Amino acid sequence: MGKATSINHSKKKAHVNNGAKAPRPEGALRRGVGVHIAPSLLAADFADLRGAMRSLKAASIRWLHLDVMDGHFVQNLTMGVPVLKSIAADSPDFYFDVHLMIEQPRAFVRPFADAGAKLITFHVEAAGDDSINLLKHIRRIGVHSGISVRPKTPVSAIRDCLPYADLVLIMTVEPGFGGQKLLPETLNKVRELVHLRDELGLSFLIQVDGGINLDTGPLAVAAGADVLVAGTSVFHENRIRQNVSSLRKSLSNIR
Ligand code: DX5
Ligand code: ZN
Repeated sequence: MGKATSINHSKKKAHVNNGAKAPRPEGALRRGVGVHIAPSLLAADFADLRGAMRSLKAASIRWLHLDVMDGHFVQNLTMGVPVLKSIAADSPDFYFDVHLMIEQPRAFVRPFADAGAKLITFHVEAAGDDSINLLKHIRRIGVHSGISVRPKTPVSAIRDCLPYADLVLIMTVEPGFGGQKLLPETLNKVRELVHLRDELGLSFLIQVDGGINLDTGPLAVAAGADVLVAGTSVFHENRIRQNVSSLRKSLSNIR
C-alpha cells in the first residue's frame, strides 16, 4: 500500500485510497493508507467478469472481494477456486480478498492461496476452536489472514484471535445474499473493535460487508471501518465508474 495516503484517526478529513497500488501480502496489512472500497464480485454480471474488472480498474479500484458460499454455512452457492484462478490470471494486479462462508474453511485455504488470494477470511462460527491455528496457517503460507463474525456473534468471541488477524470482518447483514439492508446495530461492534484494537496495541484493518451504500458507507467509516465491501452499490445498472465515484464522494467528508 502506498505511503502517500493515510487514515489519520484525529479529526481531519478521512482520505479515500483512490488507486494507490494494491497491497502485496508481504508483512502485515497496514492502516494509515485511506479507506478502501472493495467491490463484491457477487453483484457483477457473471457473463462479463472481464469487462467488470476492466471497469473497476478504470475506476482505480484494486481491491476485489470474492464471496465463496457452500450452501451449508449459508443458504446459497456462489463461486470457487476456478473462478479466482481465471480472473487472477487475467488481472494479476488486483488484491483478491476471499470471503469464505463455508463450513470447512481449512480445506480450501491452500487451493485459494495457490489460485491467487491475497487475503483469506473465514468465519469463527465455522472454524471454532481451530480459528487461531487457522489464522497462523494462513499467514504462514504468505497470505493475509482475516476472521469474520455474523451479526449475532459478539466481538468477545474473537478477542483471543485478534493478535493473529490482519483484518477483522464485521458482517453488517446476515451472510448469504447481496442486496440486503445494513443492520445498524452491527456498527456498534465496529466501534467496540476500534477500542479493543487500541487497547491491545494491534493494527488489524476493520472491514464491513453488507448493505453498504451512499448513506451507510459514511456511517460505517465514521464508526471506524477501514475497508468497505460494496456489491449492489458498485455494480448497480452496470454504471461501475459512476457508482464508485459517487461512493467515494460520499466518504470524502467523514471523521
Ligand atoms: C453477503 C456477502 C456480501 C454481499 C455484499 O453474504 O458477504 O459480500 O455480496 O453485497 P451488497 O453490497 O449488495 O450488500
Ligand atoms: Zn462478503
